[in-house]
Amino acid sequence: MKKEGFSSRIGFILAAAGSAVGLGNIWRFPYLTAKYGGGIFLLTYFVLMLTFGYALLLSENCIGRMTGRSPIGAFRKLCRNNGITGKIVATGGWINAIVPMIILPYYCVIGGWVTRYVFVMLSTPVSDFNAPGVPTDCFVDFLSSPVQPAVFFAVFVAITALVVCLGVEKGIERFNKVLMPMLILLIIGICIYCMFLPNAKAGFTYYLKPDWSKFSYMTVVEAMGQLFFSLSIAMGIMITYGSYMRRQDNLVACVNHVELFDTVVSFLAGLMIIPAVVAFGGESAANNAGPGLIFIVMPQVFASFSGGQIAGAIFFVLVLFAAATSAVSLLETNVHTLMQELRLSREKAIICCLVEVMIIGIVTVFGYNLLKNVHPLAFIEQFKNKDILDTLDFISNSVLMPVGAIFTTVLTIWIVGLKKICAEIRPENGKWYRELLYRFCMVVIVIPCLLIVLLNATGLLK
Ligand code: ALA
Repeated sequence: MKKEGFSSRIGFILAAAGSAVGLGNIWRFPYLTAKYGGGIFLLTYFVLMLTFGYALLLSENCIGRMTGRSPIGAFRKLCRNNGITGKIVATGGWINAIVPMIILPYYCVIGGWVTRYVFVMLSTPVSDFNAPGVPTDCFVDFLSSPVQPAVFFAVFVAITALVVCLGVEKGIERFNKVLMPMLILLIIGICIYCMFLPNAKAGFTYYLKPDWSKFSYMTVVEAMGQLFFSLSIAMGIMITYGSYMRRQDNLVACVNHVELFDTVVSFLAGLMIIPAVVAFGGESAANNAGPGLIFIVMPQVFASFSGGQIAGAIFFVLVLFAAATSAVSLLETNVHTLMQELRLSREKAIICCLVEVMIIGIVTVFGYNLLKNVHPLAFIEQFKNKDILDTLDFISNSVLMPVGAIFTTVLTIWIVGLKKICAEIRPENGKWYRELLYRFCMVVIVIPCLLIVLLNATGLLK
């Protein structure tokens, strides 16, 4: 079978950036920033991005390119001839492969909500959202019905599967080459629009000015969790996309671009949402919005000014693009794993993945209605009062991803060795300015940070 891969450096950059830029940037980042103190969260996030996030992003892409394999195969290949230690570390490949299988179904459920809101913005007069209670009712009524969310979920899954069906170069690379520039243009457009809203200044101050009194260890823990999700780290994705990268491409430059893309989009997402929300309802509206920020608060914001209808529609199209490019990378990772491990054709692997996504996704959709009071894990303290989507998010993001990343770090520094890894990363013609920083982060920073995220998940840090 001919090995698939990206046809160009820009193809890799846009696809990897498309994977990184997603609901994490536009849905999660703004509400976490609002909740954890605006500017101070922003600063913590950027420092962690340049150190901890950078080191893991580079390591995963390097492992992928070095081996040309899916996460399971990559770990297996690098761990062989290392006795029992190698066998233990190789299990990290399985963790990295299982995570996207858990995330994809619930990611598509949220993708379905976004798809529905594109239709809402196009078909309902946005002024309707001015009436008290309407925005919340609109969202809650939608989630409470089993049929509509299931239909929109299926539509979103179909779009994702169609792109992956076309393959790496003709599907994923082309899709991202079209959508990513459009996404950047749309986000800049809406940012400029929001900048000129009356009272936006207070929101900018809230977003940009660090307030040290709001800094706590939770700011750091939440920023690290967000980094994982946002950079698509420990989801097997970067190992997979790294394996599609051409040998002649400069790994350092490619990863720098992806890091930059992801950070800029998160920053712009905050810039378009937080000042608008603060202008509309004050700091408390931003502080208390939580996950409902884009589905409940943003429609009210759009309803509050002229031109809000079209701005609202463009906003949800933008979120849809971001979600779709990430969902494609999650599905591709799962498909690639099945193709390599079970020697399935692309078509058969896609069908297997779709069956899994549909089953877990529908159960997640029903978690808000038909299965609302049925939670098989409710006897565990951490899962009490969590719906199925939150439970899947907790298992993947707070538990499996830090564990998977610990395995990746151990693989990088002990099994393969930093000397070999750095030789693979170091560009032949070009400089690697952050090599020392990379080495320092891998040896000193990454594992303690990962342990903090894990301890926090167990509740021991509270
Ligand atoms: N990295 C993707 C996101 O931020 C999964 O949504």
